[in-house]
Amino acid sequence: PMVTLAELMAKAEEGKYAVGAFNCNNMEIVQAIIMAAEAEKAPVIIQASQGAIKYAGLDYIVALARLAGDKASVPVALHLDHGTSFEQCVQCISSGFTSVMIDGSKHALEDNIALTNRVLSVARAVGVSVEAELGKIGGTEDDIHVDEKDALFTDPEEARYFVEKTGVDALAVAIGTAHGQYKGRPELDFERLSQIEKLVDVPLVLHGSSGVPDEDIRRAIEIGVRKVNIDTNLREAFTEGVRDVINAKPNEIDPRKILGPAKERMSEVIREKIRLFGSSNQA
Ligand code: G3H
Ligand code: 13P
Ligand code: ZN
Repeated sequence: PMVTLAELMAKAEEGKYAVGAFNCNNMEIVQAIIMAAEAEKAPVIIQASQGAIKYAGLDYIVALARLAGDKASVPVALHLDHGTSFEQCVQCISSGFTSVMIDGSKHALEDNIALTNRVLSVARAVGVSVEAELGKIGGTEDDIHVDEKDALFTDPEEARYFVEKTGVDALAVAIGTAHGQYKGRPELDFERLSQIEKLVDVPLVLHGSSGVPDEDIRRAIEIGVRKVNIDTNLREAFTEGVRDVINAKPNEIDPRKILGPAKERMSEVIREKIRLFGSSNQA
């Protein structure tokens, strides 16, 4: 069934595990996510970015994900990933998303708080959950120098203030991860994560998790991360799957024979992540 992010986060907090949040753009990805969650008996978050919504159409994303969630034996949330405007969040809330992320991280602190609170006022009225972001989660192309860390990474005291002023259901933090494929091994600031966890009473979200080594993911969850975002690993699996078929059978023209293996491969990756996050058998 469909559930809210808040519901998933409360159980994850109790069980000290993290729920995987996987980005979707099309039917094959939605099916791969739900197949994996069912096989692992795991709660799961299907998320769509503004880019995904633009590509597939809001109505298609909602129809695909809600069909999957309604039919599923495991709890499923449909979540907007990195919503950047009040209007985008409201549109998703009224279309059937069970949670939204309002990413006000590019704004000054007080503006981020005001924007987040505007979204919260609408979301709260209809029982939809809200994730916010504090600090700047970059792309892997942005080389972060040590002297920039304090400006870009989440400040623990600011996080405490932000949560006190908003009351969000989950908070995305910047502690050294980045979106996309990493060049080297990322260096996470676990000390900062621990400080944030001590000062803040809401579940923490790790973005840019695809290139983070397993042991670091485990450590982040031990400290208090309860939602882990994965997109890049699914893109890799999808593309490898397609490439393998096309290389092995250059004359293949049946989309089902090309996309089927890609779907299987994504599902395998999702199952591995779910096990890593400790959310297997938590449904
Ligand atoms: O946060 C980034 C996610 O990987 C979504 O990426 O905006 O290209 O859909 P996208
Ligand atoms: P990756 O690019 O590491 O998969 O991160 C995805 C993400 O954070 C989506 O919000
Ligand atoms: Zn992200």
